[in-house]
Amino acid sequence: MTARFIVLEGVEGTGKSTHAAYLADWLAKQGRPAVTAREPGGTPLGERLRALLLDPGISPMPPQAEVLLMFAARSASISEVILPALESGAWVVCDRFVESSYAYQAYGRGVPIEHVRALDRQIVGKLRPDLTMILDAPPEVGLARKAGPGKRDRFEQESLKFFERVREGYLHRAEAGADRCIVVDASRELAEVRKDLVAAVSQFLEEKAVHDG
Ligand code: TYD
Repeated sequence: MTARFIVLEGVEGTGKSTHAAYLADWLAKQGRPAVTAREPGGTPLGERLRALLLDPGISPMPPQAEVLLMFAARSASISEVILPALESGAWVVCDRFVESSYAYQAYGRGVPIEHVRALDRQIVGKLRPDLTMILDAPPEVGLARKAGPGKRDRFEQESLKFFERVREGYLHRAEAGADRCIVVDASRELAEVRKDLVAAVSQFLEEKAVHDG
């Protein structure tokens, strides 16, 4: 069975990281070793860029600079983590990928979507996730699960309106048929959400098995 690339997306506090770690474990138990990745971050360059991107002291950051830094981090993640893992036959479970840039930078910040699309083509190119699962919940649910006001990062300090635009962006992209995206209701208990994610990955595996013969 060839290596596969799965992505978890969604606004803050929807449990992406917990679910990504669980899915990687679950896949490994099925005899499918999986590597987890996160964006921005996961490489020496990515982690330095992440620190800049999340620093509330760097304000304002022009949206055009923000989107370039996100793709710079992604470029390192692709070449140093994702591609080597896929080439070695491992699965990759990524905590955020390119749909974050459409949702946050285009819909959230107002960067022209063509600009994000151009960077997507240039940096990500043919590498498309096999399955992107968007964890959907009203932003106030997710934000309530995050740090208190004193410890919020540059994104967590954004207004509810901003996160509403981001959420709409994800839903819009999924509706418009963005690459193999499914939406999962993440306002429920973690265990319930997990069941749906495992079911989606299992279904994907079955379809692949039929397809690959
Ligand atoms: P992350 O650590 O996944 O946030 P959380 O765990 O709180 O959900 O991501 C950090 C922030 O970076 C998050 O607020 C979303 C933002 N982001 C973008 O705006 N664009 C992107 O392309 C990516 C990958 C992340």
